[in-house]
Amino acid sequence: MKESTTNLSKLAAQLSTPLSIGGRTIANRLWLAPMAGLTHTAFRQVLNHYGSCGLVFTEMCSAKAVPTEKPGISPVFSWHEWELPNLVCQLVGATEEEMVIAAKRVEDEGFFGVDINMGCSARGMIKREAGAALLKTPEKAAAIVEAVRKTVSIPVFVKFRTGWSKDITPAAALAKDLESAGADCLVFHPRVAPDKRTRPPQIDHIRHIKEAVSIPVFGNGDVTTPEHCRNMLDRTGCDGVSIGRMAVARPWLFAEWTAGYEPGAYIFQDYVIRLATALEEEFDPIRGLKRFRLFMAYFAANFRYGHSLQATFATAKNMEDVRRTAREYISPDMDLSKTPNMSLYNL
Ligand SMILES: Cc1cc2nc3c(=O)[nH]c(=O)nc-3n(C[C@H](O)[C@H](O)[C@H](O)COP(=O)(O)O)c2cc1C
Repeated sequence: MKESTTNLSKLAAQLSTPLSIGGRTIANRLWLAPMAGLTHTAFRQVLNHYGSCGLVFTEMCSAKAVPTEKPGISPVFSWHEWELPNLVCQLVGATEEEMVIAAKRVEDEGFFGVDINMGCSARGMIKREAGAALLKTPEKAAAIVEAVRKTVSIPVFVKFRTGWSKDITPAAALAKDLESAGADCLVFHPRVAPDKRTRPPQIDHIRHIKEAVSIPVFGNGDVTTPEHCRNMLDRTGCDGVSIGRMAVARPWLFAEWTAGYEPGAYIFQDYVIRLATALEEEFDPIRGLKRFRLFMAYFAANFRYGHSLQATFATAKNMEDVRRTAREYISPDMDLSKTPNMSLYNL
């Protein structure tokens, strides 16, 4: 069923209420979640073209590597000057020392803020005692935030998960500690750490985090429609919503949900062509094509017959092929799924 115009304008008004974080104003409350391999500068260019994303997060950058990274050469620690007023750099690391040095560089480069990753549960990350591993040692997690807070004056964000058990009590206690340590905003993904997005998120747990602290709390997880977004806001009282995979599937959703933008019939084709061109500009041909294939899984999830579209694009040898395929195979009369085709989306 189509969302009513009144409901959509109510949501747009709710999301478009500005928010102050660490003394800086952000125009709206719908943000792009950090995603490794996806929220690089090429995607962010396309996102910026469609507009209205309140705050943009980089993919996670290794705190160990950041001090010596060369912007423009590094595939992750790269940006365009115009992005900085709206761009938060996410760091992943295990010790106060490495996080502090990296955060200082993030501030010196002119980013809006720095985000500390306490959510990634990839095996390698846990082995290094970084990401979601920090949720096992709350005192260490808070000490990292405190050390970063003392070092930088830009806003400090923390993105975290429920933790290693289903009980929300330790996460709510940690939220309080992170606030006392100086975090300016929390982004909470209500899943336990080993869960790789296969089971539904526990939306109501966001309310526990929101009630534990007085700094802004953003909710995240499985929001793919305006109804999901409103439900998360209303049910949990969170201050805003961070969107991951659906933003990759439809980067114009920020403009649609916050500003009433109505996408034209050729929007899907337009997206693929713009993305191919941005990837071509930002990466060498092999890296660019590899990144394009990652995108296709999310993009294809928009369509009822997305699998065959994905298979067709997988045969493209270069970006010219990609653009040709987009013009030939993506048309306004394709069958759209209202919510993403989950077999492609559960990645
Ligand atoms: C491919 C991929 C890469 C991700 N990389 C990161 C990351 O670098 N840092 C992070 O905090 N979360 C990362 N996430 C988690 C997302 O930020 C988000 O929490 C998760 O996808 C749930 O939100 P969604 O349902 O809106 O996609 C990643 C998720 C995906 C799918």
